[in-house]
Amino acid sequence: MALYLVTGGAGFIGSALVRELLQRNEQVRVLDNLSTGKKENLDEVRGRIEFIEGDLLDPRSLEEALRGVHYVLHQAAIPSVPRSIADPLTTHRSNVDGTLALLVAAKQAGVRRVVYAASSSAYGDTPTLPKVETMPPNPLSPYAVGKLVGEYYGRVFTDVYQLETVSLRYFNIFGPRQDPTSPYSGVLSRFISALLRNEPPVVFGDGEQSRDFTFVANAVQANLLACAAPNAAGKVYNIGVGQRITLNRTLEALGNIIGNRPEPHHEDARAGDVRHSLADISAARRDLGYEPTAGFEEGLRQTVAWYKENLAALFKQADLTGATQPGA
Ligand code: NAD
Ligand code: UD1
Repeated sequence: MALYLVTGGAGFIGSALVRELLQRNEQVRVLDNLSTGKKENLDEVRGRIEFIEGDLLDPRSLEEALRGVHYVLHQAAIPSVPRSIADPLTTHRSNVDGTLALLVAAKQAGVRRVVYAASSSAYGDTPTLPKVETMPPNPLSPYAVGKLVGEYYGRVFTDVYQLETVSLRYFNIFGPRQDPTSPYSGVLSRFISALLRNEPPVVFGDGEQSRDFTFVANAVQANLLACAAPNAAGKVYNIGVGQRITLNRTLEALGNIIGNRPEPHHEDARAGDVRHSLADISAARRDLGYEPTAGFEEGLRQTVAWYKENLAALFKQADLTGATQPGA
């Protein structure tokens, strides 16, 4: 049994990692400042994990969180592109300063490996699809810059300090527990909640932009493989499915599943937005043994089923805390 620290473990992807680690009888500790995550995401595992409410930038919390840890799954970050444009400094502090602080402390604590939640946003609008790890990056937003800096720090810590790190460039992850209540939430959580609440989904631009939407189980699998893969230290891997779909087609697919098709409301395309995104996953297949198991449609069905059960409670709680307001 190994001890895993999941930073950002009260968030969407982090809490899915926590559940899978417990399933595999591993020991789990979470460090989370609950800025975008929620304790409720860990309700069903309460008593089986150690939870530290603290910030990556608080040295005492970090030291406590890393004591005796074998592997770190570093998910903590502020994940939104538009939020980084509205407030680049806050995003930078968590995503860049926080990642550097974590790496320094992990080195001191003698951690075996840090697996880092990197982002496909690093590619920006490079004209060629699919995106391959060898392409030069072209970040289009403060968020994308910060996520890329985290990768560079990871590689340098492997080369200079012999702290093993692996960066996983996630491509638009979706699934149960993705928070739909903030204006900065991921598009699928917002579309599903709009359709279930019989409200018009908001589409930024013409809706012909596309994404390699990836069900969260695939990201979980990739993290656990990345902890053990022998030739992965210091490297960067795309984690997607290898298929892209436009927002317009996504709305059609959701309409079929939910049985409700309110007319979308179009707004201007977002600044810093990537037009098309599609992963080449051959490096992850080769080095990690990664193979996506859950496809888009099946993932959507599971996600819709979860929101049907939980949406009312999520919005009630968010209205109480004011989280549904822009800037929250
Ligand atoms: P999330 O907001 O649900 O989870 C992030 C968690 O980090 C939250 O629980 C939040 O409270 C915590 N956190 C933020 N700043 C912190 C800090 N300074 N100290 C401690 N905890 C902090 O987001 P998510 O979608 O689960 O994203 C997880 C990670 O994956 C992020 O690093 C994100 O950049 C990356 N990522 C996500 C996607 C996606 O499509 N969701 C794609 C690419 C990369
Ligand atoms: C997402 C992730 C980011 C990750 C990146 C790369 C979130 C919040 N963002 O960014 O962490 O690093 O993928 O994988 O999880 N849109 C609408 N209507 C909406 C919301 C969004 O039309 O209500 C559009 C956006 O303009 C964009 C697309 O949908 O074109 C996707 O947006 P979003 O879900 O915010 O994700 P990314 O910006 O791709």
